[in-house]
Amino acid sequence: MFFDTHAHYDDKAFDGDRDALLASMPGEGVKLVIDPGCDLSSSRAAIALAEKYGHVYAAVGIHPEELRDFAPEKLDEIRALALHPKCVAIGEIGLDYYWDDTHKEEQKELFKRQIELALELGKPVIVHDREAHGDSLEIVSEYRKLRGVFHCFSGSAEMARELLRRGWYLGFDGPVTYKNARKAVEVLEICPMDRLLIETDSPYLSPVPVRGKRNDSRNLRYVAQKIGEIKGITAEEVAAASAGNGRALFGI
Ligand code: NI
Repeated sequence: MFFDTHAHYDDKAFDGDRDALLASMPGEGVKLVIDPGCDLSSSRAAIALAEKYGHVYAAVGIHPEELRDFAPEKLDEIRALALHPKCVAIGEIGLDYYWDDTHKEEQKELFKRQIELALELGKPVIVHDREAHGDSLEIVSEYRKLRGVFHCFSGSAEMARELLRRGWYLGFDGPVTYKNARKAVEVLEICPMDRLLIETDSPYLSPVPVRGKRNDSRNLRYVAQKIGEIKGITAEEVAAASAGNGRALFGI
């Protein structure tokens, strides 16, 4: 079975066929999905999808790209949403210096406040780290009890080792199937099977051979296949390991 631990079905890209697509997933072998919010409205939408579908769970949080619309009272609403029984994590949260490297301190502050919320509620975090590896590692290392996943991990093997040593999970998405995926392959070679998660980040990051098209959780098999090739095991074994890891991390 497949567990897509990161798919944005609340995204407008799914407005035309969201319900049909989500209803079809268990029949396609996708038995579990986590929809992480990126701001208040998408967090609410993720919770609504989790209420509607037994196989869908939600995470709630404010993505660094949403920083400019941030107001402190939004965190109170995130906290309220996080108490929902099908909210399994705070995310996606983190740092994105590719998007904006002029408000680093504000990004760090928002990241830390949401980490503290996760710790207070006893939930893991889903971390978005884009071109902010040093600061992301430094911040999560300040919180010894924090658990979670570095979603679509794009750091070095050295950073991966450090995160693994601290108990983190690493998320792998469509880009592992791309021709230039040298760094991700190096990281996969050292990542033990009990610490990796396969994700789609739908509607983004479609794997080869559907690169460029809208992504959905059925394409997780291409990610599993590629990881299986690197690890010398079958795609089914990768999917099973990842699903077990996802259940363990998110308490499902
Ligand atoms: Ni995402």
